[in-house]
Amino acid sequence: MPLPQEITPLNDQLADTVVATGNMEWLETVPGAAWIKVLWTGAESGGWAAIFRWKKGYVAGPHKHLSAAHVLVLKGKLQVRDGVLNTGDYVYEPNGMLHGATTALEDTEYLFVCNGPLIFHDDNSFTSYLGWEELEKMRTGALSGAAISAGAKVLA
Ligand SMILES: [Fe+2]
Repeated sequence: MPLPQEITPLNDQLADTVVATGNMEWLETVPGAAWIKVLWTGAESGGWAAIFRWKKGYVAGPHKHLSAAHVLVLKGKLQVRDGVLNTGDYVYEPNGMLHGATTALEDTEYLFVCNGPLIFHDDNSFTSYLGWEELEKMRTGALSGAAISAGAKVLA
């Protein structure tokens, strides 16, 4: 019996993106302290997905979310503003949020699914814009991983 409505996509180029993350190389963003695996970038939507890996003591800089994001801590422990995220914790970060520094209290990996860009800043100025294009350039090797690490530091 046919479906009651035609649902074939008009875009015949549509395809799922499948990534064997276990076979991917980590891209180092801060020597010995931070790495990323860029899983997907969406040229049309501006969204992107990545796995971040931070050694204990890595501190990510303050930023504003210019889009919403979903976070799932795969392992480790993160100190965020007013609390601690543990393995298995999920966070929804709304568009517009201002976030201060985030510190890895243990060696940590987390999945980050973002609907668009972030902008990093220090006390006086903006330091880095991070959107799907920067991530895609990193994935293809056209941009150094350092581009994602504005304002980051590593605690002794
Ligand atoms: Fe954030």
